[in-house]
Amino acid sequence: MSDTTASTGPGNAPEPGENDVREQVRARYAAAALAVTDPTTIDCCAPSSLDDERCSPSAGELEKGFGATQYAAADRNILPSAALAASLGCGNPLAVADLNEGETVLDLGSGGGIDVLLSARRVGPTGHAYGLDMTDEMLDLARRNAREAGATNVEFLKGDMEAIPLPDAHVDVVISNCVVNLSTDKSSVFAETQRVLRPGGRIGISDVVAEDHLTHADRAARGEHVGCIAGALTFAEYQDHLTTAGFTDITIRPTHQLADGMHSAIIQATKPAAT
Ligand SMILES: C[S@@+](CC[C@H](N)C(=O)[O-])C[C@H]1O[C@@H](n2cnc3c(N)ncnc32)[C@H](O)[C@@H]1O
Repeated sequence: MSDTTASTGPGNAPEPGENDVREQVRARYAAAALAVTDPTTIDCCAPSSLDDERCSPSAGELEKGFGATQYAAADRNILPSAALAASLGCGNPLAVADLNEGETVLDLGSGGGIDVLLSARRVGPTGHAYGLDMTDEMLDLARRNAREAGATNVEFLKGDMEAIPLPDAHVDVVISNCVVNLSTDKSSVFAETQRVLRPGGRIGISDVVAEDHLTHADRAARGEHVGCIAGALTFAEYQDHLTTAGFTDITIRPTHQLADGMHSAIIQATKPAAT
């Protein structure tokens, strides 16, 4: 099932197809990674860069609830500055993931690696933290941050969250921070998440979620797909997707408003122990 359609309505310009949207997302986050690893590619402090989306999160986005401001000072203080600078999430999935020593964690769309590095500390040397990302520049940055942090129980995988490159029943916890909304095939994301979780495993996801009355057009009017707004599911759609994928004990709790009727939310659910 796909969430993004390539259509041409009467009198409308063609809407971008799935591959176009995916490439726009990849390019945007490649540029965001390069802005951290190689600031000469763009001067994000220059007045001319104020509207340049490569310099994200912008001060405006931070005010709206994106980025490292979502983390406690104790967590921020132990991370490489580049991991903080590259933080583009809209919440803090670790606040609810309740990780235990020895667990295996997977972060979908791990970006600069902030949640993977924090997870690695929580699960300790007997645990393992995977980050999955489709963007080479983000993977380079995340691996560099892991080296700088001295983390040995982490692994960054290249791939798509719609086809996770891990075996069945391999992880205890799936986390993600502001990434599921970017997918053009959310059914596959939830089915793949269910597949790689061990029976009894759980998810703790931060994502942008829209109020149920907002149509696709309403969401698109509030922001771009690549900016984590237009692709957001409503609360009811999120619940439906998770139920269809086989999750139980589903909770979707808004934490702060990002735009009119659009919220950062914490999503928790469980894979039943006996499936
Ligand atoms: C908004 S950033 C969030 C990064 C990170 N979770 C954080 O909190 O800073 C989105 C990240 O997801 C990655 N991404 C987007 N779509 C993806 C997909 N379909 N599969 C894997 N990674 C994806 C992008 O490359 C980017 O690094």
